[in-house]
Amino acid sequence: MTTKRVVAEVFSAVSKKYDLFLKLITFGGIDSWQRDLLQMLSQEGNRLDVGTGTGEVLLKSQNRGLRVGMDLSLEMLRIARGKCKACRFLAGDAENMPFKEGVFGSITLSLVYRHLLNRKAFLKEAKRVLKGGGELGLLDINRFFLTPLLIFLMKYPLKPFGLMLFGKEKWDFFIHSLENSLSLEEVQKELSEEGFKVVEVQKRLFGLVYLLCCRKD
Ligand SMILES: C[S@@+](CC[C@H](N)C(=O)[O-])C[C@H]1O[C@@H](n2cnc3c(N)ncnc32)[C@H](O)[C@@H]1O
Repeated sequence: MTTKRVVAEVFSAVSKKYDLFLKLITFGGIDSWQRDLLQMLSQEGNRLDVGTGTGEVLLKSQNRGLRVGMDLSLEMLRIARGKCKACRFLAGDAENMPFKEGVFGSITLSLVYRHLLNRKAFLKEAKRVLKGGGELGLLDINRFFLTPLLIFLMKYPLKPFGLMLFGKEKWDFFIHSLENSLSLEEVQKELSEEGFKVVEVQKRLFGLVYLLCCRKD
């Protein structure tokens, strides 16, 4: 079973090559997608970037308040701190945030939502730390028609190679993050069940990637 310790270890292990890897697998699209996500949000108030990784979203952010990044992985945070001196980075869990109520005008998650082990707990926390009318912006990968095939391949024929190369915990994490990826419709349903009103959705890369802005009701 995947745990937060494993999530932190996986991302710490790849932290040095993460930015390059992400640029390559998104064909360079990640920078413009993150900028477009930020454009969908109001620039007022403090901004929290959850699962900030190497801090790229906050680095691009033009909001007028504080820029705060939080992550489970200390190594990812170390890189983020080196990039943005004006931002504040801290280790913390999306599902149990160390902030008072209503302190943020917006929260962003870039490629994080499907890694959360308890999305409902996160949404409750997001609602708590957002001020009234505060916005939540998500950038993530849509579950697509090949996802079940990929999961099958990783669980059965590719498993021996995966275990040999990565070990059981990391291989289970890769499978879990695929199983945990939702369709855009499922994401919208979860958000509205937790009291967020979806205000804008955009798609990129033939619909494989979505950008979504919703507001605390
Ligand atoms: C795929 S990376 C995305 C990093 C960055 N947002 C980006 O767009 O490049 C996912 C990040 O989410 C973090 N993460 C996963 N679960 C988390 C949680 N419960 N609380 C805080 N961070 C989490 C991981 O440690 C990792 O750095």
